[in-house]
Amino acid sequence: MPPRKRVYSGIQPTAVMTIGNYFGAVQNWVRLQDECDCVYCVVDLHAMTAPYDAAELRHASTEMFVSLLAAGIDPDRTIVYIQSTVPEQTELCWMLATLTSLGDLSRMTQFKEKSGLLKDGLAEDDGAFISAGLLFYPVLQAADILAYRADCVPVGQDQSQHLELSRGIAKRFNSRFGYLFPEPETLHTPITKVLSTADPTRKMSKSLGPKHYIGLFEEEDSIRRKIRSAVTDSGAAPVGGAGDRQASPGIENLLTLLAACGHRDDAKRMREDYFAGTLRYVDLKGLTADALVALTSEMRDRRADILRRETDLEGRIMEMGERARAVAGETLALAREKMGTFAPPA
Ligand code: TRP
Repeated sequence: MPPRKRVYSGIQPTAVMTIGNYFGAVQNWVRLQDECDCVYCVVDLHAMTAPYDAAELRHASTEMFVSLLAAGIDPDRTIVYIQSTVPEQTELCWMLATLTSLGDLSRMTQFKEKSGLLKDGLAEDDGAFISAGLLFYPVLQAADILAYRADCVPVGQDQSQHLELSRGIAKRFNSRFGYLFPEPETLHTPITKVLSTADPTRKMSKSLGPKHYIGLFEEEDSIRRKIRSAVTDSGAAPVGGAGDRQASPGIENLLTLLAACGHRDDAKRMREDYFAGTLRYVDLKGLTADALVALTSEMRDRRADILRRETDLEGRIMEMGERARAVAGETLALAREKMGTFAPPA
């Protein structure tokens, strides 16, 4: 049997995980545990590149750690940790920065977007502060991945450029100092983009307000209410021409959610009913709400269970950090040796 592939991915800390986060990434992470050796990281150091509040960051990181466990990331099989508990990665980040060109970094789309955004968002007399952290963001991401010598990285399309850069850095290291890093492949698995139920022309996001997102651990009543009031057709004709079988965004979104909850056959049948003009929206909404409630109530229970069981959450976070450090430390030791630097005194 060939050795299992090593998978690595990271997620930004947020205090409330939405079903958008879950279906868009985490559900896939959970599945990958069956076939691969997985390492998943809550990237609090990356989150520091945007304006933030210190207490909130710590809270969000802790919540995200718990949410991942509750969503089905299994710490017995998988390393799941908070980025700042592994200083080996930040040292590796520095080393890799010396193998990264400034030109490449300044050409990153995400850097250009975010630095532009920050500039526009600030009053003129505040001065536009663009941190070097924003520029370094992809180097730290490369260090995340390479510290675990990962083979595959499941990410959304928007991260392709960062992955390309990581491969370039790995290649440069290997050719200058001798082989150490596999060039990490992007794993573009089919993921589900969830839209706001209140405004299905926009991506589900917490920043739009509570009407616009459904939390993964939200109470049943509240989930049902949001699905019941989901925008469907709003009188508009189905998007696209007659031959283009695309329902309205609101209907598509509900069908997508239903399918993502595992009810693919129901979703297929209801989509046919929709085009036959016989779909009753209350039925679609009812089924979708039932499916979501069934899926999320299990996670809500697991979350409550974890919080009850883990009386020392911080200790748990430290323990997982130790496991991650053991792997990253091995890589770092090899990188130091190859690059000619010292290890800190024991
Ligand atoms: N930049 C990624 C995002 O915004 C998060 C991330 C940080 C990441 N480090 C990573 C993803 C390493 C994959 C691998 O989604």
